[in-house]
Amino acid sequence: MIIAIDGPEASGKGTVAKLIAKKYKLRHLDSGLLYRLTGVNLLDQGITDDTTDTFVTAAISAANQITAEDLDNPPNNIRSMGVGINASKVAVIPDVRDILTAIQQNIATKKPGAVIDGRDIGTVVFPNADFKFWITASLEHRAKRRFLDYQASGRKDTLEEVTQAIKDRDYRDRNRAASPMKKADDAHLIDTSKMSIDAVIEALSTYINAKLANRVGKGQSQ
Ligand code: CDP
Repeated sequence: MIIAIDGPEASGKGTVAKLIAKKYKLRHLDSGLLYRLTGVNLLDQGITDDTTDTFVTAAISAANQITAEDLDNPPNNIRSMGVGINASKVAVIPDVRDILTAIQQNIATKKPGAVIDGRDIGTVVFPNADFKFWITASLEHRAKRRFLDYQASGRKDTLEEVTQAIKDRDYRDRNRAASPMKKADDAHLIDTSKMSIDAVIEALSTYINAKLANRVGKGQSQ
């Protein structure tokens, strides 16, 4: 079983994906982590200028070096704003996307299946996923959440800086030519702006259970 959960930065999709994976006893795969691992590798080498050929070559090489084990041991700064920005810069490179898409397909199709969160899971990585969700929230709510995450981890970015960084990343993710961030036509949309995590889990579970019951019903009547 494959459950695809896509959406913009700080919409809550990562938290939700983790909890839904636990509930349905599936693997959880955070596809953004693959882009972040590629981005942090470049950052460690001091490569951040995405207008250069060096950036593209180094990004492809970094993506090729990623192993499934790296996902279990990411570096401490993996969630930082700088790594997020570099992740969205490597994410525009088609060869990088192809390499990381193959890793995702390989991991997620192993039994018992997976909940994968990202930007292009329902559109490109698993267009035939059993369930597709688009999790979103207003810019204001997303910025506040990310600001609180950063504060909790001792980082000093202001709310204005966090809001601007989210706007820039949204723009890059939505407007890139290769697999831009977008809702799949058949994805179920949930706006989490005014919802608690429990309420979001409830909404996804209700949708999943109804569809599963429908499948069983159809199977029995055949
Ligand atoms: O957790 P957050 O929403 O901040 O971002 P993330 O899921 O860790 O992803 C970091 C960046 O990787 C995104 O801004 C995208 O540019 C890129 N990404 C992507 O292009 N496709 C994916 N399936 C996942 C992430």
